[in-house]
Amino acid sequence: MLALVNTPRGTGPVEIREVREPAPAANEALVEVRAFSLNRGELRLMQTRPEGWRPGQDIGGVVLQPAADGSGPASGTRVVALTDNAGWAQRVAVPAHRMAALPDIVRFEDAAALPVAGLTALRTLRHGAPLLGKPVLITGAAGGVGHMAVQIAARSGARVTAVVGRLERGRHVRGADEIVEGIDKARGSFALILESAGGASLAAAIAHIEPNGTIVIFGNSSGEPISLSFRDFAEHPNARIQSFSYFRSEPEERFAPDLALLASLVGDGSLRLSLVERSWRDIAEVGPELRDRRIAGKAVFRIDQA
Ligand SMILES: NC(=O)c1ccc[n+]([C@@H]2O[C@H](COP(=O)([O-])OP(=O)(O)OC[C@H]3O[C@@H](n4cnc5c(N)ncnc54)[C@H](OP(=O)(O)O)[C@@H]3O)[C@@H](O)[C@H]2O)c1
Repeated sequence: MLALVNTPRGTGPVEIREVREPAPAANEALVEVRAFSLNRGELRLMQTRPEGWRPGQDIGGVVLQPAADGSGPASGTRVVALTDNAGWAQRVAVPAHRMAALPDIVRFEDAAALPVAGLTALRTLRHGAPLLGKPVLITGAAGGVGHMAVQIAARSGARVTAVVGRLERGRHVRGADEIVEGIDKARGSFALILESAGGASLAAAIAHIEPNGTIVIFGNSSGEPISLSFRDFAEHPNARIQSFSYFRSEPEERFAPDLALLASLVGDGSLRLSLVERSWRDIAEVGPELRDRRIAGKAVFRIDQA
């Protein structure tokens, strides 16, 4: 079968090559991959992982062979799935508890956008639950995680301020009460702040957190460091900074229900995805667009199975 393989010393960052078919373990289903998505974190991994490494976490596809232990969806089920790696391939083995069936209306391309970014949006927001009536600030709102987090927060009843780099970057951002250009333009204080830009943005987040509020830090897109002092919290008593990893934030058995929830939100129209959709043969061109903040929402790739 064909798969994208890491080639950090090659002409492009990855290359489509002939590789061995997956050999699923007893708890893994074999999935025919129809679409996958690219995450900002994976751009970094492609530089640091060795030649021959097989990237790919976010999958939309069809179960070809269910897990031998009988767990998970049946053969022929259309699924959204999260893999550890090797998902940018025509077929992949996926633990049966890390996938969920798709409503008929949800396309493979939509499904592929959901695992890493959608789980991050959903699970970071849980740190502020219940959100009804609460002011929430979301940085990186134009990005993959951000544009989903804004909508899920709004659907949960939060009053959302979305931070974008430039106002035109916010055209596809739905559900925000206010969209501001840079965190410095945000007014007031917030019970929950989702912070992924880092550096000056994180410093400004501390200045905007309510007493007892929570800043969830889940990224450092700017690469900037920050200096931090106890005194920064003088006007923000008992506020906390919560680190976050989408993979380890909740127990393994929560993956399938959370993926099913995200797929249902897309299915009922309450989560509208902004996608740039291309062939997997175009990934080397799209990577720099994502890196340089030119993608509105998520970059998704279709795999040719022929
Ligand atoms: N901890 C976890 O488990 C976890 C999971 C998923 C993602 N992440 C991290 O969370 C962040 C967001 O992920 P994503 O997939 O949503 O990424 P993305 O689609 O690339 O979006 C990142 C957004 O951050 C904004 N941004 C602000 N300052 C930036 C800067 N100096 N450089 C680059 N972007 C900047 C951009 O805003 P504008 O478009 O308005 O310019 C962009 O829309 C990334 O850092 C990623 O690595 C962490």
